[in-house]
Amino acid sequence: EQSASAEDMPTYIVGTEAQFPPFEIVDSGGNVIGFDIDLLNAIAEDQGFKVEYLDQDFAGLIPALQTGNIDIIASGMTITEEREEQVDFSEPYITAGLALAVTVDNDEIQSVDDLQGKTVAVQTGSTGYLKAEELKDAGAIAEIKDFPHVNEAIEELKIGGADAMINDLPVTEAFIAVQPGVIKIVGEPLNSESYGFAVRSGNTELLEMINAGLENVTASGKYDELLADLPNY
Ligand code: ARG
Repeated sequence: EQSASAEDMPTYIVGTEAQFPPFEIVDSGGNVIGFDIDLLNAIAEDQGFKVEYLDQDFAGLIPALQTGNIDIIASGMTITEEREEQVDFSEPYITAGLALAVTVDNDEIQSVDDLQGKTVAVQTGSTGYLKAEELKDAGAIAEIKDFPHVNEAIEELKIGGADAMINDLPVTEAFIAVQPGVIKIVGEPLNSESYGFAVRSGNTELLEMINAGLENVTASGKYDELLADLPNY
């Protein structure tokens, strides 16, 4: 059997919000890099398809998938029941969870129990936003301020426009690693979440390729190799 030449390979457009290290960030050359990107590239190589990345706002990813502007979401997206009604998710490829962060000089807020009357910054459309909404409905926080990008939420903490931020733990850690001494993580992780790649509902062919590729890349040891590289983004 002859292997398909590069020209014969289908190209899928991948949507991502690439200010979310270590999962996706833009390097100095303008290229989207990160764990999600490396993993999906490895899956694409294994399955014989090509990928092209489109950097866009997180809240617009599911609509873009539904209208056909993109074919795959690779964006640290948590598999949730609500989203499963709108898209089809691959098998989970990594586990993360939400964490609370405050400015380094804040000794008042040590956990979610200290947020009464406080303002919480989150990324628009994220599970952090949903968690903040849940806390607000329970009267455990006063206000939610949401921003298209995580760094803008961090900025809001810095200028005192918000008291705390809820965001994916590894991502907040990555921001702290590049800019130490500004914010810190407090308390225990708020939950555990699994990320998946998403395709349009009913796009079984593509979903099966992604799942098969994920299985092969895991079995070959490539996944572990990429995982070991995670702290470098
Ligand atoms: N895991 C969270 C969610 O699914 C946040 C993901 C944000 N991803 C991004 N690339 N900005 O809502």
